Amino acid sequence: MSLNPTPADKFTFGLWTVGWQARDPFGDATRGPLDPVRSVNELAARGAYGVTFHDDDLIPFGSDESARAGHIARFKKALAETGMKIPMATTNLFSHPVFKDGALTSNDRDIRRFALRKVMRNIDLAAELGAQIYVCWGGREGAESDGAKDAYVALERYREGFNVLGQYVIDKGYDIKFAIEPKPNEPRGDIFLPTIGHALAFINSLDHPEMVGVNPEVGHEQMAGLNFVHGIAQALFHKKLFHIDLNGQHGPKYDQDLVFGHGDLKSAFFLVDLLERYNYAGPKHFDYKPARTEDDKGVWASASANMRTYLLLKERALAFRSDPRVQAAMKDSRIDQLEIPTMAAGESWKDLADESFDVDLAGERGYGYEALDQLALEHLMGVGI
Ligand code: GCO
Ligand code: MN
Ligand code: MN
Repeated sequence: MSLNPTPADKFTFGLWTVGWQARDPFGDATRGPLDPVRSVNELAARGAYGVTFHDDDLIPFGSDESARAGHIARFKKALAETGMKIPMATTNLFSHPVFKDGALTSNDRDIRRFALRKVMRNIDLAAELGAQIYVCWGGREGAESDGAKDAYVALERYREGFNVLGQYVIDKGYDIKFAIEPKPNEPRGDIFLPTIGHALAFINSLDHPEMVGVNPEVGHEQMAGLNFVHGIAQALFHKKLFHIDLNGQHGPKYDQDLVFGHGDLKSAFFLVDLLERYNYAGPKHFDYKPARTEDDKGVWASASANMRTYLLLKERALAFRSDPRVQAAMKDSRIDQLEIPTMAAGESWKDLADESFDVDLAGERGYGYEALDQLALEHLMGVGI
């Protein structure tokens, strides 16, 4: 298996990832601005499939019509020259001070209406560039104080916002679906729709739930102390994994946005195993931040690192699954038995009565998970391949 990424691997990057100038709450930028055209060229040269963008990444906020047209034209030219795709786009509803209390859930009605106009305008561009997924990350949809906002009513406004946008896409005839990106906090003290589970439940309340799925990010679930692999399994289970943000995180702390695999590596291994086994066919989108310590060279090295790590983990996961020792250990652990429905065809609860079962014997039996886990670890470390 080749470790050189190609467009067939469907690796994508946000313009804001490699383009991050590394400004943080404690320090100034350590890198200069990056021209989106250069990002397209550099990522194409490294085997990426495409890029994604916030409206403001491509067209600085406040640009007039002719400046806007110029930015779009240059970008389109770079896409045409490289064959790079735009599978996803999103809106910046968090940088400008107007969004300091949120966008679709701001207490200020005029701001909510402005936010909807901003999203609709960029949906037009997304459709023009062929994007089929529109990500909605509620960066500032939240609060620091529970007295500041009625969270129940805020969800009503959030739902209203999604319903308006869904109707917009329908009326325009666009082939676009939305993907909600959960995050528990940062930049708000608490963000609405903090986890995959919250988002999935919320989607059911919309006018067109079939148009909305999730875009889970590795680090965001881990910030909430949750198991990302389980979260993705549940998103797949509900047929709602429309997109994914891959990166790295070391447990519950600030949003680290590390290179994929550079946080919880074992979780990344089982994540790739899951995505590949369930044939996730969407883009593998890296939403990370090249560390503030890196110069231009380091930025591109980190971009390649994301893709190489994914391919390495894919190779390791396949080796793990095809190892006869692993297959025997899985049998020992009775993993195959979970596939068997608890009730046979035609059975009902009545058939459960009077079944002979040795509770003590079943309670004594071990599951052998430690041996299996060690085999996973050894494969991950490249031992015994
Ligand atoms: C984060 C978020 C953002 C969003 C992106 C899309 O790290 O907090 O992932 O990067 O994904 O801005 O709107
Ligand atoms: Mn993040
Ligand atoms: Mn993200």
